[in-house]
Amino acid sequence: MATTLHLLVFFIISFAFVFNSESEKTFRPRSLVLPVQKDGATGLHVAKIQKRTPLQQLPSVVDLNGRFLWADCEHNYLSSTYQAPRCHSTLCSKAGSHYCHTCSTSARPGCHNNTCGIVAVNPVTRHGAIGEIASDVLSIQSTQGSNPGPLVKVPSFLFTCAPSFLLQNGFPYGAQGVVGFGHTPIALPTQLASHFGFPPKFAFCLSPDPVNGVIFIGDGPYIMLPGIDLSQSLRFTPLTVSPRGEYFIEVTSIKINGKVVPLNISSSSIQKTRVGGTLISTTAPYTAFKHSIYTTLVQFFANELSQVPQVTPISPFALCFNAQNITSTRLGAGVPTIELMLHGPNVSWSIFGANSMVMARPGVLCLAFVDGGLNPLNDIVIGIYQFQDKLLQFDLAKSRLGLSPTLLSYQTTCGNFNFTSTP
Ligand SMILES: *[C@@H]1O[C@H](CO)[C@@H](O)[C@H](O)[C@H]1NC(C)=O
Ligand SMILES: *[C@@H]1O[C@H](CO)[C@@H](O)[C@H](O)[C@H]1NC(C)=O
Ligand SMILES: *[C@@H]1O[C@H](CO)[C@@H](O)[C@H](O)[C@H]1NC(C)=O
Ligand SMILES: *[C@@H]1O[C@H](CO)[C@@H](O)[C@H](O)[C@H]1NC(C)=O
Ligand SMILES: *[C@@H]1O[C@H](CO)[C@@H](O)[C@H](O)[C@H]1NC(C)=O
Repeated sequence: MATTLHLLVFFIISFAFVFNSESEKTFRPRSLVLPVQKDGATGLHVAKIQKRTPLQQLPSVVDLNGRFLWADCEHNYLSSTYQAPRCHSTLCSKAGSHYCHTCSTSARPGCHNNTCGIVAVNPVTRHGAIGEIASDVLSIQSTQGSNPGPLVKVPSFLFTCAPSFLLQNGFPYGAQGVVGFGHTPIALPTQLASHFGFPPKFAFCLSPDPVNGVIFIGDGPYIMLPGIDLSQSLRFTPLTVSPRGEYFIEVTSIKINGKVVPLNISSSSIQKTRVGGTLISTTAPYTAFKHSIYTTLVQFFANELSQVPQVTPISPFALCFNAQNITSTRLGAGVPTIELMLHGPNVSWSIFGANSMVMARPGVLCLAFVDGGLNPLNDIVIGIYQFQDKLLQFDLAKSRLGLSPTLLSYQTTCGNFNFTSTP
């Protein structure tokens, strides 16, 4: 009798154990979700990354073209799961580091001998510093598209441990580092997709307000309240990647009010020289055009709005109006629509008032584009202001960018993801 009972208990325990570990093993999220918030002072967006043991929230500046995640390790790095791979190991070469790091002070996270080093760059100031490549736990919420689900873990997420001084200039208050989404082996989406076995895709839906916007890592559905699946609304254009892992699209022409602006885009240097095309950036607050394109565009836009009196421009903008003279509509200020025409059937990046006009000072509305200078590295850099309340899906498997119309046209916004967790 006792033996039978023992056996039974044994079976129940082992069944429960197997069942438990199986369900943990088989829970494969198909998509992950990251809350992201605009910093009012800098216009940059900050994601709430959760790392280390015990788990700690690390606000990190979102850098679409960043090569990896880097964080300040010099202060308050407390974690029982920190590890640093040895130099010349496979993990170091995966991270692109062939350099042996040494450190003369006492050992701490970020300071060891014979680990590997890599240059971390502050995308705002362009200052760089050598950091130690390390791994630690990263946690992130899974999703089925409409609410965050269970938290999932990557036990050995590779990142760079940077010195504190790299944080100092022009950074949002409280940010601890930078999270990179570039097309590189250790960028956040690459590591998450390969760890969980889903296709390398991610989507940005950034909110202009202090409410949370959302970054999805993995495939759709991407659902905003009151239940709109944005993955159904995407139009696609080819996405090119530079050798440094930065994302480019090709703008073939620009229309204002449906009229083609006389620019030499397709025949000019935009496609032919340098890495080619138009860079998309989350560290540029506004879209910047090369000087010659900028002046033509501003002039054309002003002519299309000639009935509205201009006021003295407020730097860095070149064209401003008295806000009282411009009607407001559901899609923002009632001004001519600007369309960046892209490669692909019927695909364009339409910019309505909410994304083309900025209240530079109370009562003064300015055209929200800036002069990129005479000889910029990229002729067009699409900045954050032009893609807020729009969903951009970066599909790295198919090398294409999916663009949604402005969410305002569906009477929703990027602030409308339901962040209430469901089990
Ligand atoms: C690294 O090696 C140097 C020279 O051997 C030594 O002085 C230093 O303390 C070591 N650093 C660490 C962090 O162990
Ligand atoms: C465009 O380029 C062509 C040939 O390079 C040149 O003749 C023309 O003047 C240019 N047009 C403008 C508007 O710059
Ligand atoms: C612009 O607004 C000002 C202030 O409301 C008003 O006095 C002026 O008549 C307006 N001009 C036009 C052209 O609408
Ligand atoms: C492109 O737009 C035109 C006119 O609206 C339409 O006739 C055509 O079917 C569209 N093509 C595609 C591939 O969507
Ligand atoms: C958000 O999701 C929660 C959990 O599913 C639900 O109870 C709540 O009603 C949702 N909020 C809205 C505004 O629909």
